[in-house]
Amino acid sequence: MKKIKKKLPISSFQHWKAQDYLNEFYLVVVPDEREAIKFQLDILKKRNKKTLTLEFGCGPTLHRAIAAAPYVSEIHMADYLEENLETVKNWLESKNEFHNWNHYTKYILEKEGIQQPSLDQIHERESLTRKKITKLFQADASFKDPLGIKYREFYPFVISGFCADSATDDKKIWNTYMRNIASLVLPNGSFFTAALMNASHYKTGNKYFPSANINRIDLLKVLELDFNPKSITIEERDLPEHQHQGYKGILLAHAIKK
Ligand SMILES: C[S@@+](CC[C@H](N)C(=O)[O-])C[C@H]1O[C@@H](n2cnc3c(N)ncnc32)[C@H](O)[C@@H]1O
Repeated sequence: MKKIKKKLPISSFQHWKAQDYLNEFYLVVVPDEREAIKFQLDILKKRNKKTLTLEFGCGPTLHRAIAAAPYVSEIHMADYLEENLETVKNWLESKNEFHNWNHYTKYILEKEGIQQPSLDQIHERESLTRKKITKLFQADASFKDPLGIKYREFYPFVISGFCADSATDDKKIWNTYMRNIASLVLPNGSFFTAALMNASHYKTGNKYFPSANINRIDLLKVLELDFNPKSITIEERDLPEHQHQGYKGILLAHAIKK
């Protein structure tokens, strides 16, 4: 008898719960983030200037900002959902039972060469991050002007992890989101992105959210439109540990704007 593959019900972002997402991916340092953080740190270490930085689609997370803090002059954080921004704000202001990022900070410090970082060193890095984050605002990758009139700005460095690819299951829409995000990078500016590879969804608590089913070639093609083709680095990581969450690998990329 032919097995019928059941289609999973994909939720819209109206049903997103920041806490479910944090519980799913950020209670321990998960395998895909180990890879993404190492890749991000390599880029940061190679940058020889501390510049203003945007994290686009930060969700309720702080680990990419914690990794970036010593290497940048200032960080602006943007996301589509108010609830995610509130969660980030709680951490910034240390209020309302905010999520604990100590284990991520410890991992970041270890990757920077500190053996067995102390709690003081962890707190110091987090306190630096709190100082470096100077703006937190709502943004929408579906707009040509994703930051809107009030926050419109162009950046020498943009970080966007699992945002465009994890916001839609439509490749055309993903393409548009990527180009709108790319428009925020200044000429000669640098862009770091991470995406789920060949995935149609990812699990968050008991819900499934969409993923654009992209591969290395899709990512290369879209990046080539706005970034110097010679500058583009794309790496694949096979991560079967995440299969139960809907994906078995990720893509990590870095590129310099034309
Ligand atoms: C999988 S989460 C990634 C969060 C975080 N960057 C991380 O790596 O854990 C996807 C994020 O995309 C955001 N998102 C969904 N639709 C969006 C849109 N139209 N514009 C910008 N961000 C969007 C969601 O709010 C969510 O925070």
